[in-house]
Amino acid sequence: MTIRAIITAPDKRLKQVSKPVEKVDDALRALMDDMLETMYAAPGIGLAAVQIGVPKRVIVMDLAREGEEPEPVYFVNPEILSIDDSELRVYEEGCLSVPDFYEELERPAKCRLRYLDYQGEIREQDCEEMLATCIQHEMDHLEGVLFIDHISKLKRDRVLKRLLKERRLREKELA
Ligand code: NI
Repeated sequence: MTIRAIITAPDKRLKQVSKPVEKVDDALRALMDDMLETMYAAPGIGLAAVQIGVPKRVIVMDLAREGEEPEPVYFVNPEILSIDDSELRVYEEGCLSVPDFYEELERPAKCRLRYLDYQGEIREQDCEEMLATCIQHEMDHLEGVLFIDHISKLKRDRVLKRLLKERRLREKELA
């Protein structure tokens, strides 16, 4: 397993729409293993393949709390079958591609999901609480959407400007 570099905003690669996976095979499982390793090392609770520069519809997640056994979950070609926006859930979201920025977002509290698992088996699941919030955040990545795309332009511009400035500083230090 290899820890891969996580792409941070602003970056055109994060705006790509990810392509469906044709087959869950050993190569894809190797990618999912790398993604999980990368996510744990960050550390984070969810990661989409596009965040390491692979525009495929693959997401890894682990919502176990600190001190609990790890519970890695893999979602290949996830599809939302139904979503109920009569009830919303507010959560202060963050993203490994938007370091050191957190903002409260409202998303539908429940959704029903279909996906392929690590073995390529079809699964359906009702999602609520953290899982509902997280899967919607990660599925946005598959469409090239970041959580900061849901906040005001003023706040988004401010955070992107800071990230760009930090990147230039790092590049200067390396030069
Ligand atoms: Ni994210």
